Amino acid sequence: MMGKLEGIRACVFDAYGTLFDVNAAAANARDALGPAWQPLAEIWRTKQLQYTWLHSLMGRHVDFWQVTEDALDFALASLKIADDGLRRRLLDLYFELDAYPEVRAVLAKLGAAGLDRAILSNGSPEMLAAAVRSAGLGESLEAVLSVEAVGVFKPSPRVYQLAVDRFKVAPGEICFVSSNGWDAFAAKAFGFRVLWCNRSGQPPERMPEAPDGEIKTLAELPACLGAA
Ligand code: LAC
Repeated sequence: MMGKLEGIRACVFDAYGTLFDVNAAAANARDALGPAWQPLAEIWRTKQLQYTWLHSLMGRHVDFWQVTEDALDFALASLKIADDGLRRRLLDLYFELDAYPEVRAVLAKLGAAGLDRAILSNGSPEMLAAAVRSAGLGESLEAVLSVEAVGVFKPSPRVYQLAVDRFKVAPGEICFVSSNGWDAFAAKAFGFRVLWCNRSGQPPERMPEAPDGEIKTLAELPACLGAA
């Protein structure tokens, strides 16, 4: 286990892949998709992230729901699936994604230890509100911060700055937690203390500024912050 991070006042989480299972939408439509659910989930997520980076670089912002729809359309077309009902069902499932099983208990422990808890996500305010509501996390978060406030996606430093502005603490007093390696590395370069929740055992990114530590699930987080 990694050593304890000292001096943390707020714990800020990425949403998709970290608190909410991004593969759950396709997995829950397995009855209709069959074995194609896995490639669909993978292409959908990969394209969704690529589109965020492309829009940011092009200086043409659209919200994450638009990006999510466009990425799904690309994924369905690349697997030659043309089924409007299934498309609608997948989007409805994505709107209310399952949270990972450990999330509620972990947030409760952090709150009991006096830490502020927040989401900082590419998700639009509507998407995040729906996911938080359906996972029953509303009472366990002091803030839900969306990139829509700055009109650009991660990893723009303007996005990470939203958490600093909200909690009025130094970046080094925030522990940022993401399952997305690129997000964890970029957040560290911004100045946060960072734990990479490396759920799928990915190799480290070849980017500057490695995170402070790595955990396998969020269940390990309270101990890293002295909140176990
Ligand atoms: C988010 C994406 C990156 O929630 O997972 O910001």
